Amino acid sequence: MRKIILKGGRLIDPATRTDDYIDLLLANERVAKWGEGTPVDEDTLVIDVRGAVVSPGLVDMHVHLREPGREDEETIESGALAAAHGGITAVAAMPNTEPTIDTPAWVEYVRSRGTAIAVYPIAAITVGRGGKTLTEMAALAEAGAVAFSDDGSPVESATVMRRALEYASMVGRPIISHCEDLNLTGSGVMNEGFASTMAGLRPIPAAAEEVAVARDIILARTTGANLHIAHVSTRGSVELVRRAKEEGIAVTCETCPHYFTLTDDDVRTYATSTRVNPPLRSAADVSAIKVGLADGTIDAIASDHAPHSIEEKEVEFDAAPPGLIGTETLLPLTLTHLVESGTITLGRAVELMSTDPASILGIPHGSLAEGSRADVTVFDPDWAWEVSEDWFLSKSKNSPFIGRTLRGRAVLTISRGEIVFEEPGAAHRAGETHEEGEHHAAELSVHA
Ligand code: DOR
Repeated sequence: MRKIILKGGRLIDPATRTDDYIDLLLANERVAKWGEGTPVDEDTLVIDVRGAVVSPGLVDMHVHLREPGREDEETIESGALAAAHGGITAVAAMPNTEPTIDTPAWVEYVRSRGTAIAVYPIAAITVGRGGKTLTEMAALAEAGAVAFSDDGSPVESATVMRRALEYASMVGRPIISHCEDLNLTGSGVMNEGFASTMAGLRPIPAAAEEVAVARDIILARTTGANLHIAHVSTRGSVELVRRAKEEGIAVTCETCPHYFTLTDDDVRTYATSTRVNPPLRSAADVSAIKVGLADGTIDAIASDHAPHSIEEKEVEFDAAPPGLIGTETLLPLTLTHLVESGTITLGRAVELMSTDPASILGIPHGSLAEGSRADVTVFDPDWAWEVSEDWFLSKSKNSPFIGRTLRGRAVLTISRGEIVFEEPGAAHRAGETHEEGEHHAAELSVHA
């Protein structure tokens, strides 16, 4: 296996509290050495990454890869490639497939695909995600499930959720809760407010999420188990989690880029790519999410990558399934809407997309300390570019961000020491000439 030196980049690694211009040597699938003076032999690939940021590989803790069952929308392989395209080197795949990932055999199936990046299975909390019978959590954990979730639908019974938290705690895995009170959701399709009234679409109140967040926090306190709340979207949920953390309850949570970049006003276009569950919320909710990301209430940014076919999405708004693709725009949206705007620092962004999700899942990612797995993301934070449908590698194209101009994106993704995505022309190889002091970002011919 080839050694790689990433030369001249700004290395940001929150795990080791590093933000400095340091060269990185990767060898034998590991981070081998930091700093200059590393001997270069003919087996070493030297990549000039001046002007770019070098971070631990991004970890997307919430994706839907649709295999088994809906391979027309995404497969584990295509989902992994799309993630690598977005600078992600590890994903956790939700079990709402057909059939559900609720047996050790299916967990092993997901793990054994041999993908470009690491794919970690999340197993269901209840058999068939039916909400009634708990899965065999010990066997599923043993087979490699990193967490349990019935994502896509909530566990409606508080008793079942309580038992799930107790068992998950015994096997040392978090429960990832899709918090939604289905009675309050009713037949709603978008956030309740002025926009739903104007659009004439059936509303979903913020309380549908918040009631469930409150319940699960109480159950986490009762059981002492690790609770992770998926796709937090409202101000009230952020406040509940903040208070729970102050109390010392073992709760973590994530939000997704669409909850800090879009509002329910965007739904008034009736574009079905804006139909998602939980729904896009109000501007006040978006502000509260941003505060939560900055002050540490929210622990992770995950994409909730939810591929849907054109046939399914090209229908009237009410009839479209909820969900949007997200792995490829996770980093650009975070850089554009949080870092560029000064809401959070680059270091905090890396923490939210790598260090912290890795630690919540207990997986060996999210650090560039010497000896760590050689998973690295190199991104250009300044590149202004327009999102186009044909840029996506995902099998599905249901993104509400097509046509938008974003700033920053991944140019090189390395998983276990192997280059799994490289933007053509983005990095200079050793031996190629370049002017002293010339910046990588400026060299990209595709730069506007
Ligand atoms: O919008 C969503 N789509 N929310 C979910 O919870 C599930 C996901 C999906 O699987 O399509």
